[in-house]
Amino acid sequence: MEFSYHNPTGIEFGKGKIKEIANLIPKDKKVLVVYGGGSIKKNGAYEQVIEALNGHKWVEFGGVEVNPTVETMNKAVELVRSEGVDFILAVGGGSVIDGSKYLAAASLYDGDGWDFLDGTAVVEKALPIGVVLTLAATGSESNNLTVVSRKTTDEKRMYFSNYSYPKFAVLDPSFMGTLSDRQLGNGLVDAFVHISEQYLTKTNDLLVNDGYAETLYKGLVTLANKWNERRTLWWQENLMHICNQALNFQLANGVCQDWSTHIIGHELTAFYNLDHARSLAVVLPHLLREMIEEKQEKLAQFGKNVFGIENNNEAIIKKIEEIFESVGVPTKLTEYEIDNKVIENVHNAFKSHGYLEIGENGTVTLEKVANILNRSM
Ligand code: NZQ
Ligand code: ZN
Repeated sequence: MEFSYHNPTGIEFGKGKIKEIANLIPKDKKVLVVYGGGSIKKNGAYEQVIEALNGHKWVEFGGVEVNPTVETMNKAVELVRSEGVDFILAVGGGSVIDGSKYLAAASLYDGDGWDFLDGTAVVEKALPIGVVLTLAATGSESNNLTVVSRKTTDEKRMYFSNYSYPKFAVLDPSFMGTLSDRQLGNGLVDAFVHISEQYLTKTNDLLVNDGYAETLYKGLVTLANKWNERRTLWWQENLMHICNQALNFQLANGVCQDWSTHIIGHELTAFYNLDHARSLAVVLPHLLREMIEEKQEKLAQFGKNVFGIENNNEAIIKKIEEIFESVGVPTKLTEYEIDNKVIENVHNAFKSHGYLEIGENGTVTLEKVANILNRSM
């Protein structure tokens, strides 16, 4: 076993923890509070942030869209520069956080920030970021991944950089009370797929990773089974905790990974605007069927340890679909407004992004991607 792991983000978990930001952001910093379409003004987060920033100079930038775009975030870059901002505080879900990660790096970069997304430049410096999380799903609050879109070219790309780690993340589940059922279901599915892309690959003899992944899976299954309790603090704080743990990349230490579901899903969102988690739910079960020969051993381990199902791959995959559907997330692409160009569009994007052989074995080819999408229709 061999790995390097670095995660410097401090976590402040629990109700009222937002007041800690007064101490976590140095007093001499000028803060840019970044948020989305306005939900933070309905759940108390905005007022509490403003109160906590009483001793700081601050300005704000609202209007970050779901699936944040460079077009919008480049406007924030101008504000950072004109106002002399030197600390970014992201208040919201994965979109606001990722937009802020991009902003933190692009503000200190002379070229076009899209260079980070298309891989023509790496981040060499960035402003410090803090996070107040209001939506449990992505894990972006304490990881080094940034996912940003470009509207003009229908592209959704990502990059990893250790400069993207937030300095701290406040996880106060009481802000989740205003989330719709759709966002709660999406969060559960996103975390399920994050665990899967680090676990459902090859069997291994490591004692930590699989045990922890299976514990997180079981937590999500419990939450799905208790979907009628989703409005309780117990349910929401556990979802927030699991989603955070599912993608701080600890599960990836020392094992191979398969991010095919996300890579395909990102293209579906770029072309057809599916919610992130929904783009994953229409891929994962069908990818497992298509790639069954390579994944069957690990799938069998998963089925036995998480669902108590033995010797029946199809029953295990069906159970995953049932879980997604039980929290209101469809598992078929035909549930959405797509057109007959879907495979062609995804293929063209894969070719231009160089995704010709993905998956843990490099065997998810363009042909397999077409089969996966056909299975979903
Ligand atoms: O825009 P606002 O008004 O904030 O409303 C948001 C948005 O409409 C709303 N919302 C957030 N907190 C709320 C709330 N509504 C009521 N009450 C609250 N407390 O929820 C909607 C969705 O928000 P968004 O931030 O888009 O959701 P999510 O956290 O699922 O983030 C999705 C984005 O993250 C990327 C996705 O691709 C997508 O762009 N991802 C980022 C990852 C990462 N950086 O590690 C990994 C993921 O796999 C994913 O790719
Ligand atoms: Zn995801």
